[in-house]
Amino acid sequence: MEGERIISGVKQDADVDFDMSLRPKTLDEYVGQDQAKENLRIFTEAALNRNEALDHVLLYGPPGLGKTTLANIIANEMQVGIRTTSGPAIERQGDLIAILTNLDSGDVLFIDEIHRLRRSIEEVLYPAMEDGVVDIVIGKGPGARSVRLDLPPFTLVGATTRAGMLTSPLRDRFGVISRLEFYSEEDLRTIACRAASILGIAMDEEGAWEIARRARGTPRVANRLLKRVRDFAEVRADGVITGPVAKQALNQFEVDELGLDRIDRDLLSTIIEKFDGGPVGIETLAAVINEEVDTIEDVYEPYLMQVGYLQRTPRGRVATTRAYQHLGKSLPLRTKQEEMFE
Ligand SMILES: Nc1ncnc2c1ncn2[C@@H]1O[C@H](COP(=O)(O)OP(=O)(O)OP(=O)(O)O)[C@@H](O)[C@H]1O
Ligand SMILES: [Mg+2]
Repeated sequence: MEGERIISGVKQDADVDFDMSLRPKTLDEYVGQDQAKENLRIFTEAALNRNEALDHVLLYGPPGLGKTTLANIIANEMQVGIRTTSGPAIERQGDLIAILTNLDSGDVLFIDEIHRLRRSIEEVLYPAMEDGVVDIVIGKGPGARSVRLDLPPFTLVGATTRAGMLTSPLRDRFGVISRLEFYSEEDLRTIACRAASILGIAMDEEGAWEIARRARGTPRVANRLLKRVRDFAEVRADGVITGPVAKQALNQFEVDELGLDRIDRDLLSTIIEKFDGGPVGIETLAAVINEEVDTIEDVYEPYLMQVGYLQRTPRGRVATTRAYQHLGKSLPLRTKQEEMFE
């Protein structure tokens, strides 16, 4: 189900070529994330001046905010190669050792979904990250011996949607830890305009704002909405994305003014109607709306919390007053009373 959501930050098959053509190549082209960007600018410049590899970098944040993009930009800014892999793709210690020993000096090794690395493989990374060495065992049984190999200097860039799931020995070995934030509407407008000009799409200012407002703070969503709205504009209007055309298109696709779709609204109204606004445990909620716990936590909740519609409490998830208002539900007495005392 997740794969079909127009407003999902999670990458879908149709995004692959699109992502590639729209991906900024330099820090200057990378919109927003000023804090992370400025830090990286300083660290890359300093490393370049000293002729050293950049310190290891961990990027974390919800899907579609630009982690992969940033990993590639880091390699580009450092003028080095990049080798890309992912946590679940590395099955054996030997796989990782082969990758590490084949890096060129200064290269970036990008490990996506780094929280999904197996423990035994993480253990290869510890000495590699800290001391630039790997230990390999040659032979079997009593005659086996361990040989230490020096690695070329390299930069590990790890990306994860869940920093909390990283083990602390791994997390501690990153010199730079950057959390990516949801983007402002202004940044998303810039991103949508940039994408429109690359793709040769006609769009006016109001059209861009409409897309930005409904993109859930996520560049991948902004780009995807742009693509779908273009289809609508070509078939139902004269091809130009204006404010009214964008609005009509997004209503047609059931993406509301805040970028929530039917599944978001389902999730909130389930909490409100079936559980009196909560708290309700995440497992129960997942079972009722027929979704995976991980998907709810990674994809739905971060944005719903960001806009203040959902709270995580020790006893479970709670729908806020704003969620009631957004869905046009009347508030339970309890909340009304609480409001009176505010
Ligand atoms: N700061 C940015 N400026 C302009 N475009 C961006 C920016 N960040 C991301 N994008 C666009 O959004 C798309 C998705 O970004 P990216 O693939 O880097 O996200 P991600 O965080 O790696 O997602 P995932 O968690 O799914 O791997 C990119 O193709 C790019 O076009
Ligand atoms: Mg990515």
